[in-house]
Amino acid sequence: MTDAASQLFPPPPEFVAKARLDAAGYKRMYEASVSDPDAFWGEQGKALLDWIRPFTKVKNTSFKGDVAIKWYEDGQLNVAANCLDRHVATRGNQTAIIWEGDDPTQSKHVTYRELFEQVCRFANALKARGVKKGDRVTLYLPMIVEAAVAMLACARIGAVHSIVFGGFSPDSLKDRILDCDSTVLVTADEGVRGGKAIPLKANADKALESCPDVSTVFVVKRTGANVPMKAGRDISYEDSVAAASTDCPPEAMGAEDPLFILYTSGSTGKPKGVLHTTAGYLVWATMTFQYVFDYRDKEIYWCTADVGWVTGHSYIVYGPLASGATTLMFEGVPNYPSVSRFWEVVDKHNVSIFYTAPTAIRALMRDGDAPVKKTSRKSLRLLGSVGEPINPEAWLWYHNVVGDGRCPIVDTWWQTETGGHMITPLPGAITTKPGSATVPFFGVQPQLVDADGKVLDGATDGNLCIIDSWPGQARTVFRDHKRFIETYFSTYPGKYFTGDGCRRDEDGYYWITGRVDDVINVSGHRMGTAEVESALVAHAKVAEAAVVGFPHDLKGQGIYAYVTLNAGEQPTDALRKELVAWVRTQIGPIATPDHIQWAPGLPKTRSGKIMRRILRKIAADEHDQLGDVSTLADPAVVTDLVENRQNRA
Ligand code: PRX
Repeated sequence: MTDAASQLFPPPPEFVAKARLDAAGYKRMYEASVSDPDAFWGEQGKALLDWIRPFTKVKNTSFKGDVAIKWYEDGQLNVAANCLDRHVATRGNQTAIIWEGDDPTQSKHVTYRELFEQVCRFANALKARGVKKGDRVTLYLPMIVEAAVAMLACARIGAVHSIVFGGFSPDSLKDRILDCDSTVLVTADEGVRGGKAIPLKANADKALESCPDVSTVFVVKRTGANVPMKAGRDISYEDSVAAASTDCPPEAMGAEDPLFILYTSGSTGKPKGVLHTTAGYLVWATMTFQYVFDYRDKEIYWCTADVGWVTGHSYIVYGPLASGATTLMFEGVPNYPSVSRFWEVVDKHNVSIFYTAPTAIRALMRDGDAPVKKTSRKSLRLLGSVGEPINPEAWLWYHNVVGDGRCPIVDTWWQTETGGHMITPLPGAITTKPGSATVPFFGVQPQLVDADGKVLDGATDGNLCIIDSWPGQARTVFRDHKRFIETYFSTYPGKYFTGDGCRRDEDGYYWITGRVDDVINVSGHRMGTAEVESALVAHAKVAEAAVVGFPHDLKGQGIYAYVTLNAGEQPTDALRKELVAWVRTQIGPIATPDHIQWAPGLPKTRSGKIMRRILRKIAADEHDQLGDVSTLADPAVVTDLVENRQNRA
């Protein structure tokens, strides 16, 4: 452990004085949440949400056998009504969303009443194109207000949204549209990030060449670029909402009706459509938002994520809006037009709570303190981190330089599948340690196990499982419940396996050490090594590929690919560049390999299994720690791989 990680940061007394919960309060609530989940979550469900029909049952869950997870199952409610309608009477003129454009001269405020009206109009526009409860609608949008409008409009009429991050390629978009059988797509002419245009509509057109069932494409005008519109299929978003009524009663949804699908990478195969349902998810997003960010009425809250990821779903849109908060949506990037941009936006809009990813902190840290120090940041009260382990040095810089030593940091560990925060400090209650996500949120029961499933007690390293259900948990993989069970509940039967390694220290604090499966985390973006491998082998000159992650100073992990070419192909620098470009077009820029090593052979066991452990060590430049290679079919391949390794200290 580095010195930085052993420092303790108790919640500042000024913070505790006003906080929602202190240490004793956390303990009391945590104990109540696990000793009597029905009573605890029943009370929270009633307090946090408005119901069309009250629930009488609370928890009905099993991690065994067929794995069935139901919360509040006989209740009815509507997510959009909880995010909008109930606030309109009391805070109709309050800003719901502050939109800050990529261009620093562009921003706007949208009130709860305005957002409500826009959502009703677009909901009616969707209905006019035949969208009904249960239908899937794919959103491929930049970070503009219309993204939140489209999400809420789907929720209002009971359609299930599936957001595809705007940085994904046409091919990735196509796969996600086909997997969930969407017939409607919402996109924009172009996106804008860091001063550059992103051709969303052109990408969508390419994707749709292979999606004959998509019958409607709404196109939002963001830049006004001249994009071709296919007659009968493509319609202007602006024209359709202008023609639609603001009267759209919310659909009464069952607590367990689907709210959204979000595709995420796993260790094998194509991305999975993780399915979240209505009531439990919203209880979780709302409650974690309020407690973890200690949100106070009228505060300005900013999460820098993109709505294409789960963080954007839970902590830009659903949690904040269900809480009646003012949420800032940022279209741009941290370093445009300058590396002070984040802090300038904080000052411009008086942001109190700021939530970002370690990769952004590390990148900004590299530019030194001056770009931060030239801004005021006095409005900041709390800082958050999410997406990957934060190294203690970056934590301290975030705390001392960005937060002027004043603001507690909440390092929130969670996953697409968990719906919201799972292990995280509550800022008025928990003493923090740089690099530790600290302690479980209410209802979360972590357990560390060894490779054989033996439960490990006390201070130890292990594989992180959660032993009982919490309301925000994903219910299934869309149309593939078997894969859901296999992925999460079969490694350690009866437990949810997170895929993460973790250390618990002598104080019972949890330190996430990173994925223990074949998932890599590149700049907080989750990537399956299998996805990158299948993109590589889809290239005509590639015979075989193996992809691993390696430690990367800025990105957390980088992508290292070992490629075996077809007989007769020449390994040239030009081909290396071609393969990098190929992967980018197959998946998207986030999958760009950092290194490609030509591998005449890959280290395999006699049964033909690639020994990734060895490949990871070579990629990390730790070739002196290869361990036992005697079980390899041909140990000589290792010598060649070590000699020609790309990532040298
Ligand atoms: O490895 C963990 C890492 O991100 C994974 C989940 O990725 P995704 O589903 O894309 O969700 C990201 C946003 C919640 C986890 O399995 N991870 C996420 N947050 C942290 C983290 N690792 C360490 N510390 C965190 N705070």
